[in-house]
Amino acid sequence: MEELCLKSDIAEIAAGLGAQAREFSGKTVVLCGGCGFLGRYFTAFFNQLNETALKKPCRLIVLDNLITSGPAGMRPPRIPHGRFVRHDVAKPFSPGVKVDFIIQAAGIASPFYYRQYPLETLEASIAGTKNMLELARRDGARLLFFSSSEIYGDPDPKHVPTPESYRGSVTCLGPRACYDESKRLGETLCYVYHNQFGTRASMVRPFNVYGPGMQERDYRVLPNFASRVKAGKALRLYGSGRQTRTFCYVSDAVAGFLKALLRGAPAEAYNIGNPEPEVSMLGLVRCVEKAVGRPVKHTLVDYPDSYPADEPNRRCPDITKARRALGFTPRVSLDEGLKRFFRWTDAHYTGEPGT
Ligand SMILES: NC(=O)c1ccc[n+]([C@@H]2O[C@H](COP(=O)([O-])OP(=O)(O)OC[C@H]3O[C@@H](n4cnc5c(N)ncnc54)[C@H](O)[C@@H]3O)[C@@H](O)[C@H]2O)c1
Repeated sequence: MEELCLKSDIAEIAAGLGAQAREFSGKTVVLCGGCGFLGRYFTAFFNQLNETALKKPCRLIVLDNLITSGPAGMRPPRIPHGRFVRHDVAKPFSPGVKVDFIIQAAGIASPFYYRQYPLETLEASIAGTKNMLELARRDGARLLFFSSSEIYGDPDPKHVPTPESYRGSVTCLGPRACYDESKRLGETLCYVYHNQFGTRASMVRPFNVYGPGMQERDYRVLPNFASRVKAGKALRLYGSGRQTRTFCYVSDAVAGFLKALLRGAPAEAYNIGNPEPEVSMLGLVRCVEKAVGRPVKHTLVDYPDSYPADEPNRRCPDITKARRALGFTPRVSLDEGLKRFFRWTDAHYTGEPGT
């Protein structure tokens, strides 16, 4: 699975983390959702850390029920210092050893899939996070919960760029609610466990992380675009194409997540994203053209039935808190990140299914 990540990106993650990486020496990490896009980067990072930097290896226990891991989940991950367990985090897990860190990244992340699996989406964030908090409580481990920028819903433009203090404009009824509301409740669970039991649980709110390794059938915007580019078909933009997003390259984001795991304050949430540039989907087409070095056609289409309605009009993080508290600094520009991503998808995508 490591061929799904670029070696140079794993080296960038290690460089972004610097000396802090040694704090994993001799420790045990439980990684939930380890066969997903971000999970594979964590696994590759810990493998490389063990091979190059740590005196005592960091032991890694990777959990995934493979519900959305696709073809990448068909082969168990390579974990020389640890093991893979096919496990649904909605059920309690007993690792049989004392755990030092827990990364709770199991979830159903793509709107296409959470429309298909709403109950499983709720369960992964709620029961899954509670089970992992119990484990953290028992062992005194540090836990990082993967929340989402989606907990802000469709923010009022006055609150874009959005700081962590913004309370959100979210509905508990609707096709996105299973994701947004379960991530909100997952955060509340971390807050309650800290207040009741002193559990050291922090949260990150990622804003559209992308990079090599995203599966063609992921159905988030950049894999959709890359699949269409590979097939030589026009890109399809939903609605007006004026909705905006920001995109954070995976090596920057994973370094930020690891900093939050090591240094995040308990019961605190951190936006992890790249605020520059905030780009509309129409603008993103221009960026894709630059990345692939040729004109790319596009067409505006209605939202398909497979895609949940109510998508946010704008999304852009204020990352002041993560900059100050964690030293998080995104370094890879959108142009550079897209070049790496499209070079990788050109070699790995088939142009099917095309969306
Ligand atoms: N990538 C992003 O831009 C982004 C943005 C916001 C939030 N997040 C969150 O970060 C986490 C990781 O995202 P990703 O992009 O790697 O997603 P992904 O879909 O690629 O990976 C998630 C993995 O979790 C596994 N999983 C789902 N439910 C499970 C369960 N009950 N038990 C065990 N495993 C389960 C899936 O099989 C999959 O392999 C998710 O929780 C997601 O909601 C990601």
